[in-house]
Amino acid sequence: MTQTTNTDALDARAREILRGNDRGGYTVPTAGLYPYQWNWDSAFAAWGFSTFDVDRAWTELETLFSGQWDTGMVPHILFHQSDPGYFPGPEVWGTHQSPPTSGISQPPVAAILARRIYARDPKAGRGRLAMLYPKLVAWHRWWRTHRCAHGVAAVTHPWESGRDNCPEWDRGMANVDGSGVGPYTRRDTGHVDASMRPKKEDYDRYIAILQFGRACGWDQETIVREGPFLMADPAMTFILIRAHRDLAWIAGELGEDGAEIAGWAAEVESALDEIWNPDLGCYDARDLRTGHFSGTLGSGAFLAWLAGVESRSMETRLMRCWDAVRYGIPSNDPEGPHFDPRRYWRGPTWPVVNSLIAMGFAEAGRDADAERLRRETVDLIASGGFFEYFDPVDGTPCGGDHFTWTAAIWLAWASPSAEAV
Ligand code: SER
Repeated sequence: MTQTTNTDALDARAREILRGNDRGGYTVPTAGLYPYQWNWDSAFAAWGFSTFDVDRAWTELETLFSGQWDTGMVPHILFHQSDPGYFPGPEVWGTHQSPPTSGISQPPVAAILARRIYARDPKAGRGRLAMLYPKLVAWHRWWRTHRCAHGVAAVTHPWESGRDNCPEWDRGMANVDGSGVGPYTRRDTGHVDASMRPKKEDYDRYIAILQFGRACGWDQETIVREGPFLMADPAMTFILIRAHRDLAWIAGELGEDGAEIAGWAAEVESALDEIWNPDLGCYDARDLRTGHFSGTLGSGAFLAWLAGVESRSMETRLMRCWDAVRYGIPSNDPEGPHFDPRRYWRGPTWPVVNSLIAMGFAEAGRDADAERLRRETVDLIASGGFFEYFDPVDGTPCGGDHFTWTAAIWLAWASPSAEAV
């Protein structure tokens, strides 16, 4: 599939996608399938905008933080304007926020990317970053208080991880009773082939977990103590360590005291043994209700380098997983029993995750790995378009088209024209 990349045309198309998905201060991940503002999608959108419109990049983050709760949580969806084409909408979540939002969070990549956006034009960005800083601190404190009480970062809903149906969650999901959720109509399968989306039994459980949160008024202590699902997540853990460190760096840059934030990073790092699965030879998700490891290797384990963590045994296992496919890091181990190369997070490779993994590779001095991953991602996008995810075996584009974060990481990282920042 390797071909000559028409960089100018692809760059122009990527900018067009960001502009086309702009709804005025925020971007939707893609029209139809995801018609609202999603948390981590938005942070990546901002990174993409920063390559040609830094002001618009800051606005994206500012709009995201307009949905921050008094508790510090930044929710995973902001429902700025109602759209019947998505389920579950604001009336199902029932969070009573303004703007209406979901009741869970999503991977805190904002500080990681805000630092990079700032680096593009520190003079223009300083005031914007200073305004954002206390909000970022409040959100990171929320993570520490409500998701790291056990040590590493936990998620209370598969949607909170951003990797909805990855096999790592199967253990925890097995304990969730989805049989009593009542009738509902999915909208996602009206936009995308059902074989590329989570199954009905997954959705029943997603809704059951949501209903628990709503019934307790989204009280985080109750959700963490008694909720139907609580799993430690390597991806969230590594992202959080890295985000804490970048936020501590931002503090220093702004003349603030970042010591407390740096301490949060060290605290999470010191708990990493909790998610080291010796049988698997890598970091693994763990059901915090039962103590069981998921026993399956997912792309989150590759984010260790992003947090500056490495080990020889991990490296051998992870490289075997990557070598088993042709394009990008698969979201699940191709040699494992759950691998499903086109079903959302059960096998496909996600350009956006590849960009984070490559960031870790580059910073660990693994330049050849970083370049290989970039090149494989370029091949996918140049041949298949700006899709949400891809079959890592044959490169088939999957999920939503005209996808914001794929366009964004193209501009900021994958494109041969992207400047290293
Ligand atoms: N990813 C979920 C969905 O597919 C929600 O965040 O709707």
